[in-house]
Parts: sequence; C-alpha cells; structure tokens
Amino acid sequence: MPEKKLAGKTALVTGASSGIGRSTALKLAALGAHVYATGRRQEALDELVGIAEHAGGTITPEAFDIRDYDKFQGLIERAEADTGTFNILVNNAGLSHPDGIVDGDPEKWREMLEVNILSLLAGSQKAIQVMRKGGHEGHIVHISSIAARSDASGVYGGTKAMVSALATTMRKDLEDDPIRVVNVCPGAVITNFARNFPPDYINAMLQSLGIDIEFKPGMTLPPEVHDKVNAAASQLLLHADDIARAVVYGVTQPINVDVFEITVRPAKSLQLPDG
Ligand SMILES: NC(=O)c1ccc[n+]([C@@H]2O[C@H](COP(=O)([O-])OP(=O)(O)OC[C@H]3O[C@@H](n4cnc5c(N)ncnc54)[C@H](OP(=O)(O)O)[C@@H]3O)[C@@H](O)[C@H]2O)c1
Repeated sequence: MPEKKLAGKTALVTGASSGIGRSTALKLAALGAHVYATGRRQEALDELVGIAEHAGGTITPEAFDIRDYDKFQGLIERAEADTGTFNILVNNAGLSHPDGIVDGDPEKWREMLEVNILSLLAGSQKAIQVMRKGGHEGHIVHISSIAARSDASGVYGGTKAMVSALATTMRKDLEDDPIRVVNVCPGAVITNFARNFPPDYINAMLQSLGIDIEFKPGMTLPPEVHDKVNAAASQLLLHADDIARAVVYGVTQPINVDVFEITVRPAKSLQLPDG
C-alpha cells in the first residue's frame, strides 16, 4: 500500500475516463485524495470507482461535456462543500484534430479551443476562488504538451502553446497565494488521443506491433490495449502512468516548492502523421 500522502485532500481531474487523466485520477486516489473524476463516458468513469475502492481510495464520477463551464465550476464548488476542502485541479481534458491550418475545419478548431483552453480557464478560475475563500493550500496542474514548442503541430500545438503561456502567467498571479501551478508537457503517450488521427496511420502502427484490432475514426480502445502497445513500443510511446507520476511529484511537494514545468518524453521521437 502506498503512503497516503494526499489523505484529507480533495482533487478534481478532467478527462479521467481515459489515458493520462484516468491514470492520474487512480494515482491521486491511491494516495488518499478524494478524487472527482470527469469525462463524457459514464461507463468508463464508473469503472474507476471500483478500481479506486479496491486500493482503499475514493472516486466520485461526474459525466458531462467540459464545455458546460457552469457545470464544471459548480462541480468544483460542490466538491469543496461536500468534503470541506479543495486542493488539486488537474486540467487534463483535451483533444487533437490533426488537420492542417490550410485544410482544417473551423468547427474542429472551435472544439479544440473550447476544450483545451476555455475549460482550463473556467476550471482554474473557480479553483482559485474556492481555494482563496476557504484558505486551502493547493495545486493547479495543466497537461500541456511538447507540441507547444513544435513548428509542426498545427492548431492543436497552438492551443498547447496557449496552455503553457497561461501557466506562466497564472504562476506569477499566484505567487502570494499558497497555490502552485504545475505545467506538465508530455511527449507521445499511448492513450485514446489518436482517436481523430487518420485510421490508416493507426492501423499500420497496430499491425506493426502485432495487435489485431481494426481502428475506426473516433474509436476508443480499452486500457489493456494501451498496456499492450506500451509493452511492444516502450521506446516510442510512454504509458499514461509515466505522466501520472510526474503529476504526483508536482502535487506532493511542500507548498513553498514551485515545480513549475515538467517535460516527460519517450526515449525516441515518434513520427506523427502530417495532416
Ligand atoms: N497522448 C499523448 O501523446 C499526449 C501528449 C501530450 C499531451 N497530451 C494531452 O494529454 C491530455 C489527455 O489526453 P490523453 O492523451 O489521455 O487522451 P485521451 O485518452 O483521448 O483522453 C482525453 C480525455 O479528455 C476527455 N474529453 C475530451 N473532450 C471532452 C469534452 N468535450 N468534455 C469532457 N471531456 C472531454 C475525454 O473524455 P471521453 O473519452 O469520455 O470523451 C478523455 O477522458 C490532453 O490534454 C492532451 O492534449 C497527450
């Protein structure tokens, strides 16, 4: 059993129904935090409750579209009211539509801007208000990306550049509060992130790893398949747990220690599809 370093803390992880958010929610719960886990797929969130309980943890699942900012902010208020505190917000929900700027669909740009940036702002705003009002120490974690620093990541990379820029300004704004900002920049991680990638690219990758699944656009694969891919290609693709450990490192430091940015990459670079 891990030491319950986060006993008595309340956390909220967005995008916890899959990938990095799922691993992070489970790790925070295993360390004793009461975790509110959000995403759109109720069934995937419900599954987390049992896994966390088995490890002696508590997860409260809430399925909704994170673009409902009133609902998101209301949940942060409710989490504090119900548990008496609010300490960790992990702004993880996010997506990529890899189409380029010249041929991309503005509605897909809108979705990325609304999920990757505006929901992060709405959640951070409410978390800061609740932490200040209640006098709670805490951490706000953004899951940015190395795409923020790439010249070939299209509109998605632009949204992540803004996430990193917002982390920088938020860190400065909160210097006089007992609230630290942690900006995590993952490289390639095997999750359902590639759900909007060209199916030919994904199918070729699965095939080359000996995984017999036909990927279709929008499809999500279960964590067991991600484990398999990671085992077969660990030099190219990290496991979501590798990023969750970075989040745990950031949020378990003393409040005077500012772990501002953590970059976690696989050993080798993965060639992503261009368009
Ligand atoms: N995987 C990578 O290589 C990588 C690298 C760098 C950064 N990142 C970042 O890591 C974060 C997590 O992504 P991931 O890789 O774990 O991908 P993932 O497996 O696809 O998980 C994305 C999560 O975000 C949720 N989400 C997406 N749109 C939403 C919406 N409108 N409302 C509510 N929830 C929504 C999804 O919920 P549902 O599945 O329930 O819809 C899911 O839980 C993202 O911010 C991504 O940009 C990923």
